Amino acid sequence: KKGSYDHFMQKEIHEQPHSLTTTMRGRLKDGGVLLGGLKEHLKTIRRCRRVVFIGCGTSYNAALAARTFVEEMTGIPVTMEVASDLLDRQGPIYREDTAVFVSQSGETADTLLALDYALENGALCVGITNTVGSTLSRKTHCGVHINAGCEIGVASTKAYTSQIVAMAMMALAIGSDQISTQARRNAIISGLTSLPSCVSEVLKLDAEMKELASSLIDSESLLVFGRGYNYATALEGALKVKEVALMHSEGLLAGEMKHGPLALVDEILPIIVIATRDACFSKQQSVIQQLLSRKGRLIVMCSKGDASTVCPNGSCRVIEVPGVADCLQPVINIIPLQLLAYHLTVLRGFDVDQPRNLAKSVTTQ
Ligand code: UD1
Ligand code: M6R
Repeated sequence: KKGSYDHFMQKEIHEQPHSLTTTMRGRLKDGGVLLGGLKEHLKTIRRCRRVVFIGCGTSYNAALAARTFVEEMTGIPVTMEVASDLLDRQGPIYREDTAVFVSQSGETADTLLALDYALENGALCVGITNTVGSTLSRKTHCGVHINAGCEIGVASTKAYTSQIVAMAMMALAIGSDQISTQARRNAIISGLTSLPSCVSEVLKLDAEMKELASSLIDSESLLVFGRGYNYATALEGALKVKEVALMHSEGLLAGEMKHGPLALVDEILPIIVIATRDACFSKQQSVIQQLLSRKGRLIVMCSKGDASTVCPNGSCRVIEVPGVADCLQPVINIIPLQLLAYHLTVLRGFDVDQPRNLAKSVTTQ
């Protein structure tokens, strides 16, 4: 039921403080992380040569958002695979690999075929899914149910943020035997505890995002530049805009800007630049400078209090978001973009919950 909301997507966006709470419920214990579904397998995972994240669409983006933190906490290299591409290439998967399959529905055909392939090749197969009893949950060796609650809108919103949090908890659990990272782990666990209230805070940008959407209603295209932890945010924000608002949109790695995309910049094309505080901040500041010197039409997402730092003479529009630990920032940063995609869709008069040509779960190849 939609309750007081007009659409499921809107309800699911606003539900995120709650869905994230249920994802973490009973799993953050005595200053550590307890994932019942992985407990027996942590030793095997710690010994693996490589973690391979496999998924499609938003689930792939969630894995990409979690990748850096998994590498940092475990020291294990993490590679990324779009499920269909792994199958097209018949890419190498080994017995020494841990293959992590990410799927909200647990029924996506490409992901399940990639799972069969990885099982045949002898990898340890781990599932991250929202659906208890799904094929993914049943066929994997072990896994984590994200417990975000049923997601009805075709555009995945609350599952995305819960997937990131579930994978961050997985990273903490795998790395929990390392003394050198104890302080960092404690900081992230306390960051997780306060994350739902930060999400409530960022949801207050709703009216501002509606206003921003009304200024973009007639645009033909929207670019989103991100890097580091928030490259995934750029891809996922752009995916939301194209799938529901039916507007062309691309998420781009800011480090690649000079290698092609810069040619597109003019006074008309709207560009969102994600420049919240983390190790990439100064690099993003110089990206903003370069775009402004080409008269780019910029919308900058920055940490609270940074508006005048990222945009000294008011030459761009600014979205200020609360700052959280760097590896959790993608959970916060995607929310204004989800709200923007939602309002853009309603204002453009398209079907929010059932975009044309799309199905909630893609059960054919
Ligand atoms: C489990 C119970 C939960 C209960 C809690 C109490 C289920 C589904 N969950 O949660 O209701 O409150 O214990 O301690 O009964 N799995 C896979 N592949 C996947 C996802 C999960 O194989 O893709 C497996 C896990 O390895 C585990 C089982 O399914 O064996 C349940 O996983 P999960 O719900 O995440 O475990 P708990 O959080 O311990
Ligand atoms: O159920 P899954 O997570 O496996 O679905 C994967 C994609 O089909 C899905 O995320 C799709 O990209 C969404 N409609 C995005 O909002």
